[in-house]
Amino acid sequence: MNKEIIKISRIISTGFILALFVLLSSCEKVKIITAAVDPDATWSLFADIQPIFTSNCTSCHGGTRSPDLRSGKSFASLKNGGYVTTPAGSSKLYSKITGSDHAARSTDTEKLKVLYWIEQGALNN
Ligand code: HEC
Repeated sequence: MNKEIIKISRIISTGFILALFVLLSSCEKVKIITAAVDPDATWSLFADIQPIFTSNCTSCHGGTRSPDLRSGKSFASLKNGGYVTTPAGSSKLYSKITGSDHAARSTDTEKLKVLYWIEQGALNN
């Protein structure tokens, strides 16, 4: 076969593999959370959300790193820091816990509870 043709077909197949890789990695980013959590139930900071922070977050967010997610401190820290604004899906807190560097620190169910608690006004309830 002509050397020129071999070269061109190599370039094309490399381009194809790269395009496939970009496509697949972008699919990963828009992964839709499908855990079953009732959006209409009342989500409570005290009963539902704080336990998530206490077991998954306070080892790092324990006073020196913002937001302070310790029990008794988390509400003021999240509100004053503007982390729990609506629409909940674009709030700083939800964006962070679903972002690539923090996603593994909570389960899909926990993420949805946080989402619905913010959507319901992020109450000190
Ligand atoms: C192993 C340590 C660690 C754990 C555990 C951790 N974080 Fe973080 N978090 C960080 C670090 C470091 C930063 C700052 C760098 C960054 O933005 O990623 C940060 C940043 C953040 C921010 C953004 C702060 C800002 O002002 O922009 C939020 C919100 C947050 N974390 C929430 C959480 C929540 C909620 C959890 C638990 C589900 C959690 N983090 C668990 C280390 C941690």
